[in-house]
Amino acid sequence: MSASSFRAFQAVTTGDAAERGVTTVAVADLPDGALIDVHWSSVNYKDALASTPAGKVARISPIVPGIDLAGVLAEDAGGFAAGTEVIAHGYDIGVSRHGGFAERARVPVEWLVPLPPGLTVREAMVIGTAGFTAAMSVVALEDHGVRCGTGPVLVTGATGGVGSVAVNLLAQRGYEVVASSGKAGAHDYLRSLGAKDIVERDTLNQAGGRPLDAMTWVAAVDCVGGQTLANVLSRISYGGAVAASGLTGGAQLPTTVLPFILRGVSLLGIDSVQTPIERRRAVWHRLGGDLKPTGLADIGHDIGLDELDGVLEGILSGAVTGRNVVDVRR
Ligand SMILES: NC(=O)c1ccc[n+]([C@@H]2O[C@H](COP(=O)([O-])OP(=O)(O)OC[C@H]3O[C@@H](n4cnc5c(N)ncnc54)[C@H](OP(=O)(O)O)[C@@H]3O)[C@@H](O)[C@H]2O)c1
Repeated sequence: MSASSFRAFQAVTTGDAAERGVTTVAVADLPDGALIDVHWSSVNYKDALASTPAGKVARISPIVPGIDLAGVLAEDAGGFAAGTEVIAHGYDIGVSRHGGFAERARVPVEWLVPLPPGLTVREAMVIGTAGFTAAMSVVALEDHGVRCGTGPVLVTGATGGVGSVAVNLLAQRGYEVVASSGKAGAHDYLRSLGAKDIVERDTLNQAGGRPLDAMTWVAAVDCVGGQTLANVLSRISYGGAVAASGLTGGAQLPTTVLPFILRGVSLLGIDSVQTPIERRRAVWHRLGGDLKPTGLADIGHDIGLDELDGVLEGILSGAVTGRNVVDVRR
């Protein structure tokens, strides 16, 4: 990295194709905002979508993807002094402005989260957007009144970024966690995160089920959407809730109103992108404290910018387990 340029992973779209790789970007080509020396980023499903035109996520080309980042302010910005450790994610980052897969980034100061006590910048990116979304899901369920000791809680897409942190957080808080996964080889991993039981993904994604089925879980964190979410809703206990954040199984929701009007089930929408900054900072504060996931050192798999291309491909084919964290200076 020089004062005027830095290494970055970039995607350039031409028609239906994207050329991706590590290149040099000029600081002058960054958008307005506080200048950050990025230390860590993480790999999310949305980054994979932003790296290919078919994903319809990136709003600019070339783009440096990376919807989250953690690092150190390179200069004073707003009320923050140079050297302050910060986290930034969501809003337009890695979608319509350059993101975290780079040694440097600029982010509007009002989007910055000071690193909370209890977390290192690497730990913050092992948690990343995915873990933040998992934490928002758990907070939403508990705000709804879900409590441990009342019955099992389901997590779908459990080996993914959001799912794996959700399993960890719920288990740590004393919930009986049931993990749904399509990866037969990941059962030991899910149990190590705290899952008590495992449900095969295929048992939850079949069409033609009953709109109201046997009440099985008091609540769910759903990262999959589609037919899976519809089937989950039909099996939530009376008065329970589902925190829905994802669509890896599809954006349609082929359900009926029956779980809502006959069982009082609630569908809680989780959005990490536009979360207002005060709430965002408050949830991060808890992620460094009572909501800090255990075993963060073991969950994150470190990669460099040069390895990103293969990992992004793997995400789209559903082959990736756990959290890939990007050491952008490696
Ligand atoms: N609302 C928000 O603010 C927000 C924030 C972050 C992420 N998201 C969304 O949440 C979802 C998960 O994100 P992530 O970062 O955790 O992604 P991820 O790491 O790629 O994990 C997704 C998981 O979904 C499961 N899956 C993959 N393909 C599937 C399919 N065709 N049908 C059913 N399940 C499938 C897999 O788990 P198993 O193999 O264990 O089944 C996979 O590990 C994505 O849709 C993402 O866009 C939303």
